[in-house]
Parts: sequence; structure tokens; C-alpha cells
Amino acid sequence: MTTRHHPQEHVTDDPERLRSLAADALERARRRTTLLTSCVDESELTAQHSPLMSPLVWDLAHIGNQEEQWLLRAVAGREAMRPEIDPLYDAFEHPRAERPKLPLLAPREARGYAAEVRGRALDVLGSTSFEAEGGARLTRSGFAFGMIAQHEQQHDETMLITHQLRKGAAALTAPDPEPLTEPFRGPAEVLVPGGPFMMGTSAEPWALDNERPAHRCLVPPFHIDTAPVTNAAYLEFMADGGYEESRWWTPAGWATVRDHALRAPLFWHRDAGGQWLRRRFGVTEVVPPDEPVLHVSWYEADAYARWAGRRLPTEQEWEKAARFDPATGRSMRYPWGDADPTPDRANLGQTHLRPAPAGSYPRGESPLGVRQLIGDVWEWTASDFLPYPGFVAYPYKEYSEVFFGSEHKVLRGGSFAVDAVACRGTFRNWDYPVRRQIFSGFRTARDTRTDEDGS
Ligand code: AVJ
Ligand code: FE
Repeated sequence: MTTRHHPQEHVTDDPERLRSLAADALERARRRTTLLTSCVDESELTAQHSPLMSPLVWDLAHIGNQEEQWLLRAVAGREAMRPEIDPLYDAFEHPRAERPKLPLLAPREARGYAAEVRGRALDVLGSTSFEAEGGARLTRSGFAFGMIAQHEQQHDETMLITHQLRKGAAALTAPDPEPLTEPFRGPAEVLVPGGPFMMGTSAEPWALDNERPAHRCLVPPFHIDTAPVTNAAYLEFMADGGYEESRWWTPAGWATVRDHALRAPLFWHRDAGGQWLRRRFGVTEVVPPDEPVLHVSWYEADAYARWAGRRLPTEQEWEKAARFDPATGRSMRYPWGDADPTPDRANLGQTHLRPAPAGSYPRGESPLGVRQLIGDVWEWTASDFLPYPGFVAYPYKEYSEVFFGSEHKVLRGGSFAVDAVACRGTFRNWDYPVRRQIFSGFRTARDTRTDEDGS
């Protein structure tokens, strides 16, 4: 394997290595799609489990349809296999709530279609140049194949959310993460020094358009939590009347608390004795105190932070905490360095069906001692989803550009439900601030006082 020296990041650009990474990533995604769509019976594939979600059979055929459009039509110039189905699987033509009423491919047809597309896509993969220079931009360094593997994995996470929303007995099981072998003894927060930092990437071959280009940011010094906010800490906010006092909430946040009578994270309820329980993939259990809080909206994260006398980190702060190496001033691909994620560094890929206890993964720590930035729970940031300076929509405006603006807040770092192919220090996710069916949590930050930062 060869690696070219990039001034900011070390990523592979060896064509044969990238080709085998693409084949592995596509295969891993399809294994997960198959698991998610074969562990429930056919009637559950076509049912609508929540108006927020598509029927699982829609995701399945949409995955195949996107792969056909990009790998067979755009890359290989093939004719549409079934042009009449394109509009059914166009996410912009039909909102999720309407999709169960569409004349969708039945489960057996959807599986057959996705499998046929995949067979042809693997032929295309074998005959496409992965050179980093020259050739068509879409296939340079295997970008289109990496993009399609990421797309399928993103829908796999969406399908896992549908599984979490579905009623009935558990359909999925997985081993729990390792308990903490020794309690995390690090400080609750660390100081991230002020100064310039390279945000985003121009070197990462499969980075999506919204992560580009690399650009210099001046980030003032700030403090950030070394671990995500736990259920125990969130329970203190609840016990202190957090959901009853408007002063902790933005006006829009307070309106959602009142309109929906919110009093706890989604999927939580109280038993007769007053103990908080949660439903997680069909199993009811006591809320585990040491786990990162999950299924909170941006409004809840923001209110908690204000109650704690703190605030959410901005997206720039989050990325600096996750990528800045104070020893070299360089931006790394991950908190631990440039190496791809491994199970001892981050809880990714639906290996577990829950986050690991806060303070886990010492080997995934950043140089400043911040843990679990990658994996476990998506982390809400204070920031709106906006383009970086120099942004160019690629290869289609409907991935990022149409979502830019103040309606969406950025989430960072990935959850236990994100595959490594769709998770990097630069990766950006976004959603409406009211959403909490997603695998969302947060950590908090604060400004430094001037007597602390030496200025
Ligand atoms: C990046 C997760 C917000 O699911 O809406 C899937 C990913 N884009 N198909 C979404 C996506 C097109 C997207 N998110
Ligand atoms: Fe999609």
C-alpha cells in the first residue's frame, strides 16, 4: 500500500487498495441491508411503522435504484433497467408518510432488483480505473463506489431507526459493548487551545461534497467535555424540573415541550415506582445511568447545556476537538490519528445495539484526552448546516445543497449505527432540531475565561 504525503492528512491513494476497500464496503453494506430486511416478516416490510419513516421495502429498492443510477447509468453509461420505477424511489417526489401508498415493488421484487443491480455494479467496479489523477471525476479514486457504499449504509441506519420505532418483540439482537474495565479517571473537560485549525478536507478520496474543501479556521480557546453527557446527568436535569422551566429553553424548544408534553427523552417511560425505563429495539430495561443519553432533540440538548451553565460546541469547535493534533498543528482523520476505525477505538457499524458507557474506548482518545467523539451517539452541535467557503455541489445538489440553511442543525461523530465507511472526523450529518428518533446525544462546551487562556 502506498500513501502520498498530504500536508494535512494521510489517506491512501493506491488504486488497488481503494478498489478492494470499495468491494468490501459494498459487500458489508449489503450484508447489513439483508439482515435488516430479513429479520421481520414480509408484512412488516411493507408496513409503515412511523409516519417519520419509509416502509423498509422502500429503503431496499431505493438503495438499488441509487446504485443503478450512479454506478450503472452515470459511471458505465447503461440504459435504465426499469425507468418506470425511478419516480417511486425519488426521495423528493414523495414524502416519507406517503410512501406506503405508492405502487412499490413487493419485497421479493425489491430484493431481486437490488441483487441484479449489485451483480452488474461489481462488473463495473472490476473494469473501472481507480487512478487518483486523470479519467472521469466521478470514478477518480473510486469516489462513486465509495459514495454508493456510504449511501446504502446511511439507509441502513435509517432502517435501524425504523426497527427502533417498530412495536412488538425484538427482531434484532447483538452483544453489549464491554463494560468499563476501570472507571474513566480523566478530567470532566479539557481546554482546547485557540488558534488556527484546518477544517474539512480536500484529500480524503470518498469525502462527500459538504466536507470539502479544507479551509483554515480561527477557533478561540474553549473547554469541551471529555465524554458525552450521560443518562445520570440528564436525569439530574429532569429531576431539577428541566422540562418545567421555560428559562432553559429557546422559544421554539419550549413550544415543542408544551405542544407534545415532553418530559423525558424519546422511548423513556416511568414505572409505577417512579423508576425510568426505556424501550430499546423491542426490549424494556432500566435506563442505564453511565451510558450516553440517546434520543434527545437539539432543543433538549441545548436546554440541558444551558441548565448546566454551559453550551453546545459549535461545529468548528467539535471538529477541532476531534482532529487537531497540538503536537504538530496538523488535522488528523480521526481523534486517534489517521488509521481507519477498529472495534477497540470506536463503537460503530451496528456491532452493538447501544452506546458504550461514557468514558469507554481509551484507545480512541484524542491527544487532548477527549473520548467517544467517533461512534456511540451522534452529537448535536450549536451550528446550522451551512456550506464551507468554496463549496461546490457534487455530484448532485440534492445530497447537501438543498438542505443548507438555518432549518437544520449539524450532528457530528457518528453513532453505534454508522458504518466506518460513512464516518470520519470531517463527516457532517444534519437534521431538524425537533428530531429525536435518530441516534442522537451530545456533549457540552464552555468559553474560557480570559484568566485561563493566557490572553
Ligand atoms: C445525511 C442522513 C441526512 O438520510 O436524509 C440518504 C442521507 N441522503 N439518501 C438522509 C441520505 C440521500 C441523509 N442524511
Ligand atoms: Fe437516499
